[in-house]
Amino acid sequence: MQPISNYNQLFEILAGTELAPWIDPLRATLGPAIQQSNNGHLEKWLTALDSLPDVSPSTTALDQSTIQIGRHQDLDTVQQKALPATLHQFHPWRKGPFDFFGTHIDTEWRSDLKWDRLSSAIEPLSDRLVLDIGCGSGYHCWRMAGAGAKLALGCDPFLLYVMQYLAARKYLPSTPAFVLPFGSEDLPSPIPAFDTVFSMGILYHRRSPLDHLYELRSFLRPGGQLVLETIVADGPPGYSLIPDQYYAKMKNVWFLPSPQTLVQWLTRCRYREIKLVDVNQTTTQEQRGTDWMRFESLPDFLDPNDPDKTIEGYPAPKRAILTALAP
Ligand SMILES: C[S@@+](CC[C@H](N)C(=O)[O-])C[C@H]1O[C@@H](n2cnc3c(N)ncnc32)[C@H](O)[C@@H]1O
Repeated sequence: MQPISNYNQLFEILAGTELAPWIDPLRATLGPAIQQSNNGHLEKWLTALDSLPDVSPSTTALDQSTIQIGRHQDLDTVQQKALPATLHQFHPWRKGPFDFFGTHIDTEWRSDLKWDRLSSAIEPLSDRLVLDIGCGSGYHCWRMAGAGAKLALGCDPFLLYVMQYLAARKYLPSTPAFVLPFGSEDLPSPIPAFDTVFSMGILYHRRSPLDHLYELRSFLRPGGQLVLETIVADGPPGYSLIPDQYYAKMKNVWFLPSPQTLVQWLTRCRYREIKLVDVNQTTTQEQRGTDWMRFESLPDFLDPNDPDKTIEGYPAPKRAILTALAP
């Protein structure tokens, strides 16, 4: 099956909404974006997608910590034996967890813990049009669909994560959750039609964080809800940490504002009803290397003698969740 055919249901949903003008530009750009000819792994990933067993899962669940697809006994013994190696073709698995027919993918991140911190603090997603900017594998998009969203539309320019999404999509063909292979800047022209927009783990990667807040607003209908999650640094209103070069071994970290600075930024961008709903220091239970993500992870990014500091001597990652409404 062509990967593009996984998006037919998306076009049907969009057709009945104010986002209908997105259909033609998405149809034109999706195929080429997935077939990125310069990606040396593409053939391996497409072969792995084709090797996934053609089986209907006896059960699926999108409303618990693990995205659950099928049971071990849905597969014959040959399929059971082959499946883990096929799924390992999509290494590294960063956001999850997932369970494919009894193969538990213990991802680098326990993304369910972030979901638990925010799910009761946001407006219910039931029947909403939801956009998730920088959604990774789409783990949270599946959870949004599990919470009743009419559409959970994610975007992420990193093709491997789109492949991980497509692996789950094979077994969830009618769930209204989609991951587009685009950065936010490559989405069609913004239409202020989404009821909820998520930006999680994105703001600190932006050189112009206020422009990002404006960008997010451009997708929200008036009164729609922004859910913003980002790394913060303790400090007074107005304070923002700008790392010299690396932060937790990441080169592309620009601004780590204090929570109160974030409130100021949102206010300057004319958001209203701004709420700080959670601040949480990331633990090595939530982010760590596993068999499914064999590169360095949080334990390697922290000072071995002081887990409250990064290896560069900055405060260890603390993440805040804020909600706000578009004017
Ligand atoms: C730290 S991860 C956050 C993933 C997920 N939102 C979460 O909270 O678990 C940042 C993601 O942003 C994606 N990304 C990078 N550049 C982007 C862009 N221009 N637009 C949207 N996403 C981008 C990366 O590929 C990565 O998956």
